[in-house]
Amino acid sequence: MVSDKRGGDVLTRAAAALIAAACIALVACAADAKPQPVITSIFDPASPPAEEIFTLSMLVLGICAAIFVIVAGLTIYAIIAFRRRADDDGIEPPQVYGSNPIELAWTMVPLLIVSVLFLVTTRTLLAVQKPPPFPPGTVNVTVIGHQWWWEFRYPDLGLVTANELHVPVSDPTDRRPTSLRLESVDVVHSFWIPQLNGKTDVIPNHVNTMWIEPMRTGTFLGQCAEYCGTQHAHMLLRVVVHSPSEFEQWVAEQRQAGPGGATPGRQAFQSAACINCHRVGGTVADGVFGPDLTHLMSRATIGAGVAPNTPETLRAWVTNPDQLKPGVLMPAMQLDDQTVDQIVAYLATLK
Ligand code: CUA
Repeated sequence: MVSDKRGGDVLTRAAAALIAAACIALVACAADAKPQPVITSIFDPASPPAEEIFTLSMLVLGICAAIFVIVAGLTIYAIIAFRRRADDDGIEPPQVYGSNPIELAWTMVPLLIVSVLFLVTTRTLLAVQKPPPFPPGTVNVTVIGHQWWWEFRYPDLGLVTANELHVPVSDPTDRRPTSLRLESVDVVHSFWIPQLNGKTDVIPNHVNTMWIEPMRTGTFLGQCAEYCGTQHAHMLLRVVVHSPSEFEQWVAEQRQAGPGGATPGRQAFQSAACINCHRVGGTVADGVFGPDLTHLMSRATIGAGVAPNTPETLRAWVTNPDQLKPGVLMPAMQLDDQTVDQIVAYLATLK
């Protein structure tokens, strides 16, 4: 029994050391996250709702850390102070039963802590849900979840893109929040950009709304946060935040028509099954099941973040998408090498 007990003590101490190490690593990561903005991070909020959530998380973490330190400290103290000694006389120390002050204290203190957490959480929930007044000219985006990619439609600007959301930066003196309308065409997804806002479910036959208000330019990573099938983990997105003038330039570029002319690549593309699912503005390709490819080359990644957008990965994707993204709904078209080359050459012109 005694050796069992000692084994248990060693385990308790090892567990405490592990948890402490994890806490230190977590804090170190938080410090490290600062200079690298292209990282999915909850520790570096860049938008008011994300800041609210971050503040709440730190409060909860602080309270939990304090409880952990007190409980672990008392445990370690008890283990050391009341350990079995060689000259033990075998007499039990005085036992305490039914002490009203102690009973009251350990009921009231947890009740107080839970009440504080409940009230602060409610305040944060309300703050995150209530958008600021949307000024005229606010960018409205309809986010559509698909297995396994994101479609972004800008109804006021007449633009459609995929997996990379472009928005203007906000400023305390010139606020430009972006209003998002979330829809799904298949199953439940969850839209999450940790640095810009919390998660919001994307539900079929139901519209949810959320807002982001990035306060600095740059690229922010996000991902689907609700298991939605085989490639849930590869349902990534990135938000590119521009200065207002850069954003206007991006809009102008996205509005430009694609390349004209009947190149072999364009003919190969239009006579393959590609056009049943993909749209390319100004061509017969008018599909809606897959991402709009009109400005494919303006995106940094393909397959919803599964690979960088390079000629090699694009070729591999067109040849057999399943190899890069197992389970993807786009089939391999069984095209010969020459046709794949022509189609990839054509896609490379879709700037
Ligand atoms: Cu979409 Cu997980």
